[in-house]
Amino acid sequence: MEVKTSLLDNMIGVGDMVLLEPLSEDSFLENLKKRFDHNEIYTYIGSVVISMNPYRSLPIYSPEKVEEYRNRNFYELSPHIYALADEAYRSLRDQDKDQCILITGESGSGKTEASKLVMSYVAAVCGKGQEVNKVKEQLLQSNPVLEAFGNAKTVRNDNSSRFGKYMDIEFDFKGDPLGGVISNYLLEKSRVVKQPRGERNFHIFYQLLSGASDDTLKKLKLDRDFSKYNYLSLDSAVVNGLDDATSFRTVKNAMQIVGFMEDEIRSVLELVAAVLKLGNIEFKPESRCNDTDESRVRDKNDLKEMCELLGIEQTVLERAFSYRTVEAKLEKVSTTLNVAQAYYARDALAKNLYSRLFSWLVTRINESIKAQTKSRHKVMGVLDIYGFEIFEDNSFEQFIINYCNEKLQQIFIELTLREEQEEYIREGIEWTNIEYFNNAVICDLIENNQNGIMAMLDEECLRPGTVTDETFLDKLNTVCAEHQHFESRLSKNSKFLNDHSLPHSCFRIQHYAGKVLYCVEGFVDKNNDLLYRDLSQAMFKATHSLMKELFPEGNPSKVNLKRPPTAGSQFKSSVGTLMKNLQTKNPNYIRCIKPNDKKAAHIFTASLVCHQVRYLGLMENVRVRRAGYAFRQPYGPCLERYKMLCKRTWPHWRGPAREGVEVLMADLQVPTEEFSYGRSKIFIRNPRTLFFLEERRRQCLQDLATLIQKIYRGWKCRTHFLLLKKSQVVVAAWYRRYAQQKKYQRIKSATTVVQSYARGWQARKLLRELKHQKRCEEAVTTIAAYWHGTQARRELRKLKEEARRKHAVAVIWACWQGLKVRREYRKFFRANAGKKIYNFTIQRIMQKYFLGVKSGLPSMSPVDKNWPARPYRFLDAAHAQLRSIFHLWRCKKYRSQFSQERKAVYQEKLEASELFKDKKSLYPSSVSQPFKGDYLEISKNPKYQKLNSCVEEKVLLADVVNKINRANGKGASRILLLTKKNVVLADQKTGQVKASVALPDLISVSVSTQNDGFFALKLKEGSASAVKGDFLLSSEHLIETITKLHHIGSTASDDGEQLDINISDEFLVQFKQDKVCVKFIQAAPKNGNSASCKRKNNRLLEVSVPAATA
Ligand SMILES: Nc1ncnc2c1ncn2[C@@H]1O[C@H](COP(=O)(O)OP(=O)(O)OP(=O)(O)O)[C@@H](O)[C@H]1O
Ligand SMILES: [Mg+2]
Repeated sequence: MEVKTSLLDNMIGVGDMVLLEPLSEDSFLENLKKRFDHNEIYTYIGSVVISMNPYRSLPIYSPEKVEEYRNRNFYELSPHIYALADEAYRSLRDQDKDQCILITGESGSGKTEASKLVMSYVAAVCGKGQEVNKVKEQLLQSNPVLEAFGNAKTVRNDNSSRFGKYMDIEFDFKGDPLGGVISNYLLEKSRVVKQPRGERNFHIFYQLLSGASDDTLKKLKLDRDFSKYNYLSLDSAVVNGLDDATSFRTVKNAMQIVGFMEDEIRSVLELVAAVLKLGNIEFKPESRCNDTDESRVRDKNDLKEMCELLGIEQTVLERAFSYRTVEAKLEKVSTTLNVAQAYYARDALAKNLYSRLFSWLVTRINESIKAQTKSRHKVMGVLDIYGFEIFEDNSFEQFIINYCNEKLQQIFIELTLREEQEEYIREGIEWTNIEYFNNAVICDLIENNQNGIMAMLDEECLRPGTVTDETFLDKLNTVCAEHQHFESRLSKNSKFLNDHSLPHSCFRIQHYAGKVLYCVEGFVDKNNDLLYRDLSQAMFKATHSLMKELFPEGNPSKVNLKRPPTAGSQFKSSVGTLMKNLQTKNPNYIRCIKPNDKKAAHIFTASLVCHQVRYLGLMENVRVRRAGYAFRQPYGPCLERYKMLCKRTWPHWRGPAREGVEVLMADLQVPTEEFSYGRSKIFIRNPRTLFFLEERRRQCLQDLATLIQKIYRGWKCRTHFLLLKKSQVVVAAWYRRYAQQKKYQRIKSATTVVQSYARGWQARKLLRELKHQKRCEEAVTTIAAYWHGTQARRELRKLKEEARRKHAVAVIWACWQGLKVRREYRKFFRANAGKKIYNFTIQRIMQKYFLGVKSGLPSMSPVDKNWPARPYRFLDAAHAQLRSIFHLWRCKKYRSQFSQERKAVYQEKLEASELFKDKKSLYPSSVSQPFKGDYLEISKNPKYQKLNSCVEEKVLLADVVNKINRANGKGASRILLLTKKNVVLADQKTGQVKASVALPDLISVSVSTQNDGFFALKLKEGSASAVKGDFLLSSEHLIETITKLHHIGSTASDDGEQLDINISDEFLVQFKQDKVCVKFIQAAPKNGNSASCKRKNNRLLEVSVPAATA
């Protein structure tokens, strides 16, 4: 089994100085030495880690060690920087507290190494993944880059940080790194141009010259030989244990990992090369007429190469090294530079160029490593600032560096010693105050805004008039002379120094870590940090893109006459910001101690260590810690952490947290002198008590974990079992259901079969019974029927017999009665019946006859000759009578429809009938011809207009007639007009009236009996018309003409005498004096069907009338 060293077990010396007995400076150093000798370089003072620089690599940083310390309690294992890193990381991740790791110690004590160890530990224990690993890699790889450009070999440290660095590593809620932000503090740029004896310039210069390929060097116009460069000190160019060439490759690789582009790396190296070249530019004086020297570049080759590298016009730079333009108000004055000034300008340019390049690198790294998400993150700050240092010649840089360390000491005092003691008082813990040295007074000496050294320096720099370092010292001598930590040769009130060998141009400050003698030379210049505008403008004009970026103030369009803040005030404000930042975070201290000045392993220089222990205030730290309590925690978190150790507080304590903690402590039987109850916290005196609690907690947690595991496993198994059981029940239920279904179906089908058989049997049985019953019923019915039938028939027979008998009786009776009646009837009938029957029969016949006549009546046409036949001869008379009555009735009906005109026509027709019917053969043919009267339409025909006008009366008849010549019997056509008074004969063609006979002159009209149209108008003898005798005429409308003539003649005669119509085949006519007989004879038809007339002799005129064709 792996045996782990606990802080308290198998300890070399004492792991936690708080536990040191007896406590004295000697025992303290003794303990440190003992541990150092046994390679135990880390020792605790409570939660503060003291780290001794071993100056050799120890096998205590392996991945196994990382795993060992991972997630372990701070006091659980032997002291290690990993324990502190783990504690900080875990409280950041689990308690959401921002952390800062404050690493302090003098130069070479191992701060940078410690910071790297912390970072590498955190990187090893935090989350993994492609993205997270990339972030980690970038964060870690930023170190070699910054070290190459910002670190240098000093007499105290071969890899001394010449800048302050504070790095915020940002984590997400899971504790995975998201990115980081680096802040850099004042690079010691004077090192670029000048290094103290035994020291080197920044590593990058040596690395570039050693590690770059020949090709790269050629491009950069560089030579591998360090000695060719003025800015590189030669005496310690090669450092033991440092392989510049390998480091160069590491740096280049690191730059690539961080995210620098190839051209960016090239630009950076070009600038580094340019600085080297710049150092080689030398000046020579050139006498001028006014007895002044003007500087001139001695060998222009380096200048040329530098200008080529940066893309600067050589003449511009050359001029900037010889002249200086001073702008006063709106005037520009150009003054010449002497050689010294030229060198000063050159070095100022080199320093500015390099320090700006360094700041650009930090900005560029920040760009790469900055967190990509804007979500809330936790921060772990690691502060690795240049350590307190005392050199032979201490200048402005050391002053700044040591001021920074004073501030850190101040914050340490603030947060540990003072804060701790104040906390005891605040919490009401009995406490005897421990004295310690508070360096606030030194900080005040330096930074006080009214009379602090920095304020004096700034005042001096800004003051008009001649300002020199000496005037500055004078000022200090007057203002700070009274201060107990300040001394100069002229200060009268030296309290702690009796060193009269103090040089004139120096002042001394008693820092917390020792007395440092500062030489004021260069203070004003360095604080001003001025670069001639001609130079910055020349740099801005460079075509090299990075150069332009580094010297923005050289842009002529952005000339700013305002003085930039001094280097000192810039540093002061950035340190102020840093302190404020640190105060917001939970501090974790690593106090680095340097065991010897020789940078050698295994050497423990007690005096040196003692000095550091003193000024770091470590003894006070232990005392405060010992006098107080090793551990404190608010009641809430304390109860939360240890509540599982007591049954009453586990799992929940309902009352106030303090009472819970009290119950807990009582239950655990912790001796009362081992702890105190503060107002809000419990204070545990001895770490051992804490270890005891932690151990109990660990065991308890294991038990709890086992319990949780047990319960979880039980729950899991039970759940699984229940699931299986449930599944089994479901499966069984389904199976049972299935089996039961099957069984049921079998039973059901069997039942159905049995049922069907039973039902069939039952049905058949029932059927049989029903059939039997039915048969029985039928049989009964049949029997009954037969029986009833027999009975009925018997009865019937009886009845029939009886009826026959009765009938026979009745028949006999009836016959007898009938015989009697018939005899009676015959007698009666013979007496009356004949007459009645006759009447009845006649009545019936008449009835039938009349009904027959009624139904068989002919049509209503008067000409209809039909009439039903008479049924009996004795009805002849009545039948004829009825026929006549019906005919008259229908004639009457017929007549009643007539209009007046039509009536007149029929009257005429009637008259014609009376005149000619059965008297003249022509008559029948005329019956159907209507009497038109005006055949010539005389009134309308214009031809007869004249004739019409001659006739006064209304023309009743106008027709064409043949007038028979009296002499020869030939016919000539004449118009016959008949009016009420006259008969007019006119010429047919001319219409001339030939003869007009007044009707009273007409005595008779003669016509034949035959079928001809001849008629003779007999005139009254002696009348005017009878001059030529009677007229013999022939007309096609004879019947009409004669009828009209007869009608008019009778109305025209004065005496109402009717015109005589003589119908005979022979009549006499008077032709002039002759009486001529007109004789009608029947002849064979000839020349058509018309009658012909011929004068036979004087007495005879023969008219041949064709025999009428049947
Ligand atoms: N834990 C360690 N293990 C091995 N060697 C170490 C350790 N710490 C420091 N060193 C050695 O000490 C040297 C100086 O350490 P480091 O550079 O960290 O000092 P520093 O405190 O940062 O000094 P400065 O203030 O000058 O920067 C290192 O180069 C290394 O060789
Ligand atoms: Mg360092």
